[in-house]
Amino acid sequence: MRKILLVSVMLSGMAGSVSYAFGAESLYARIGGQPVVAGVVDQLVETVAHDPTVNQSFDKVNLKRLKAKLAEQICALSGGGCVYTGDDMIRVHKGLRINEREFFSLVEALRGALDSHGVAQREKNELLAILAPMKRLVVEK
Ligand code: HEM
Repeated sequence: MRKILLVSVMLSGMAGSVSYAFGAESLYARIGGQPVVAGVVDQLVETVAHDPTVNQSFDKVNLKRLKAKLAEQICALSGGGCVYTGDDMIRVHKGLRINEREFFSLVEALRGALDSHGVAQREKNELLAILAPMKRLVVEK
């Protein structure tokens, strides 16, 4: 019995170090996976779409599709194993004349949504660092 216990303790210890060595805990998993990302995206899109300081109109936008594609994209970028099936970032934002201020409003809304879903500082910074370089694909002026 003691032997079995010892072996199982050793094995679980090894599994822990193997997963640590290979970085098995993806950013997606550390954020909280699908339910947390879905909640964050929902809050983010609702905040930006109704932010009076954002000039961009979301009146004619299919918010359900936007939320689904954004959640899928975040999953793909953070190691959650999804494949992004939405439109190309440059093409989808082209002609919307999104400015820098609007981009940073979205970043602030994302920060707030991550905070209210209890996402820790480290994961928050990692996700923001992945999304920040996309500014040049989205901002036109
Ligand atoms: C890192 C920043 C951003 C990311 C990752 C992002 C991502 C996306 C994604 C995944 C879609 C959906 C694509 C599809 O339908 O296939 C989308 C659409 C859209 N985004 Fe962004 N976006 C960003 C910034 C912004 C900003 C700053 C604005 C404006 C304030 C904005 C406004 C829109 C609008 C209006 C649409 C809908 C376009 C349409 O349906 O015709 N986005 N975005």
